[in-house]
Amino acid sequence: MVVLNKYKKIQESLGIIGRSEGIREVIEQIMSVAPTNISVLITGESGVGKEIVAKAIHQLSPRNGKQMISVNMGAIPEGLLESELFGHERGAFTGAIAMKKGYFELADGGTIFLDEIGETPLQTQVKLLRVLETGEFMRVGSGALRKVSVRVIAATNRDLSSMVQHNQFRKDLYYRLKAVSINIPPLRQRREDILPLMEHFLNETIRENKIEFAGFTPDALSIIENYHWPGNIRELKNFVESVTVLSAGKKVNAEFVRSHLKYYEEEPETISALPMRVNKSVDQTERELIYKALLSLGVEMREMKAILVDLHNQIHQPVNRGDFEDASWNREVQPIEEMEKQMVKRAMQKFHGNKRKAANALKISERTLYRKLKEYEIE
Ligand SMILES: Nc1ncnc2c1ncn2[C@@H]1O[C@H](COP(=O)(O)OP(=O)(O)OP(=O)(O)O)[C@@H](O)[C@H]1O
Ligand SMILES: [Mg+2]
Repeated sequence: MVVLNKYKKIQESLGIIGRSEGIREVIEQIMSVAPTNISVLITGESGVGKEIVAKAIHQLSPRNGKQMISVNMGAIPEGLLESELFGHERGAFTGAIAMKKGYFELADGGTIFLDEIGETPLQTQVKLLRVLETGEFMRVGSGALRKVSVRVIAATNRDLSSMVQHNQFRKDLYYRLKAVSINIPPLRQRREDILPLMEHFLNETIRENKIEFAGFTPDALSIIENYHWPGNIRELKNFVESVTVLSAGKKVNAEFVRSHLKYYEEEPETISALPMRVNKSVDQTERELIYKALLSLGVEMREMKAILVDLHNQIHQPVNRGDFEDASWNREVQPIEEMEKQMVKRAMQKFHGNKRKAANALKISERTLYRKLKEYEIE
């Protein structure tokens, strides 16, 4: 009982919800590693809570008076990465009109969170290893060594050990980073957490939106508890938010839940097998995926058009059908940028947030995908 209370208090202060054995182990690891300066590697599928765990480590550490700087290693263009991390001197390269401190200097005394560490280019990995080992680095365009005291926490949803085997990630950096590694299990392996998490997000949504919520029917709850949640806690959070808002004060039943769970019909095996296990060339599979995405986008646009017709009819009755047909046709012509945004969104949904697979399907590099996600503010 005393032990349970201990977890409860800590979890409340950190905002980490869950009562499963899996999440307790994670909390246990957070508590034992937080007071030290050891670097930590956090692994787990997309949306499991890697960032929230990194924040918890910093919050419970003696460095909590200073800031934790989060850097997404995949989102920064390769050519700028080192100057962002280590800073640069004035005139170090075209456009470097003034000296700029890098994240390591800014995080001195605090923590740096290197998210998507698997995206770090090999040449930058060497420099990261040096900061990790000695705290030393050089600003771009300077020969002077600088020293900082920064605690490093890294995260990835990629299999770094297999990247090491394929020479895509330095072995020495890998071992240095994973001095302690915390693996966060996917939600489907800790189903006891689903209801408490749901309650938490429900209360949050109700409070923020000032809406009424009538609750779920028992069979709706059972679907939620048995669903495989490929997008993990992020997917659960988004689901709760949309269902609460769309339920319009009515009790949510099984059918409503089913229609709002994106991957309800898909078996987990089929999902993890896409697109590789299919006995077709990767090219062909990708092309099919893009066609499918385009097709369902078409369906959505038709649905939107129908809604618009309805709205228009409500506002302007009687309506001159011919005129409206013209207007709605014009609406179908979307700015290319909007189409691109929708396509990127769709690919991210299709691959449950797996950026590598989404980038492959869109035939763009992962770095370009990161840039587009940021640009279009897609989570
Ligand atoms: N145990 C938890 N309790 C409460 N909220 C959680 C928990 N785990 C995750 N969340 C919430 O779920 C969302 C996703 O978590 P987070 O961003 O930490 O995941 P991630 O593993 O970093 O995902 P990605 O790999 O996509 O970057 C966030 O809004 C976070 O606050
Ligand atoms: Mg993250």
